[in-house]
Amino acid sequence: MLTLANVDVVYGGVIQVLRAANLEVREGQMVVLLGANGAGKTTTLKAISGLLVAEHGEVTDGRITFAGRDITHADPAATVKAGLVQVLEGRKVLEHLTVRQNLLVGAHLRPDRAAVRADLDRVFRYFPALPELLDRTAGYLSGGEMQMLLIGRALMARPRLLLLDEPSMGLAPMLAQQLFDTISRINRDEGLTVLMVEQNARAAIAHCDYGYIMEGGRVVLHGSRDQLEGNQDVQEFYLGMGHGTERPSYREVKHYRRRKRWLG
Ligand SMILES: Nc1ncnc2c1ncn2[C@@H]1O[C@H](COP(=O)(O)OP(=O)(O)OP(=O)(O)O)[C@@H](O)[C@H]1O
Ligand SMILES: [Mg+2]
Repeated sequence: MLTLANVDVVYGGVIQVLRAANLEVREGQMVVLLGANGAGKTTTLKAISGLLVAEHGEVTDGRITFAGRDITHADPAATVKAGLVQVLEGRKVLEHLTVRQNLLVGAHLRPDRAAVRADLDRVFRYFPALPELLDRTAGYLSGGEMQMLLIGRALMARPRLLLLDEPSMGLAPMLAQQLFDTISRINRDEGLTVLMVEQNARAAIAHCDYGYIMEGGRVVLHGSRDQLEGNQDVQEFYLGMGHGTERPSYREVKHYRRRKRWLG
């Protein structure tokens, strides 16, 4: 459904961030993209959704295709219309609007108003806490409530592929777990393809069909859930410490780099 082939991204004409990035998402899959801070995960999502332009970023080489179409330089409105919807990093709700208004904004590109009502009910099935929040001002929601709203809003656009950037950021481990469970359920029940960037690697891998690990703008490792869970580097670097909510420490990163040189 989605392919990145040797994609380079440069910001401001000088800073190269993605270096021949390769990635594939098959229809119906839940795919995770992992990596340390600054690895290029958000950049990858923005390259896909066409949002790089807003940041003076550009795909300078390679090709991105979605559902058989070349979308390498497509504008963001066109990619949304084609069914590719991104939930940005950092919970950008329309904070002065109500929860209801935020949800309806997600459907603004759709002409079928009757179906929109049915879709609201569908969203409420996955996020049963939302109906009670409908008249609240979105800016005052808790982090977990905002994340439900954002995913709900994205679903209202009836995406074929949902791009999520660190949905669990700042959530307590319990809430993060619940959120991943819900995203998995949406993926399964709706057949919605998902590409999710995460730092919460252990839980994210446990919920995925396939995962990619990025470092320095390249994909350095990829595999199925079983392959990733069985991989020693992934174990040590991502899964072997704490309970998956902390970011890797410098010492561990260095250890990982050293190991990689040995392997490489
Ligand atoms: N608009 C921009 N202009 C210049 N450099 C940028 C821009 N956006 C990102 N970068 C740089 O590109 C690199 C990758 O950033 P990106 O946001 O893609 O990383 P990330 O993997 O999402 O990290 P994090 O886990 O911290 O969110 C970083 O070094 C960052 O400083
Ligand atoms: Mg990011």
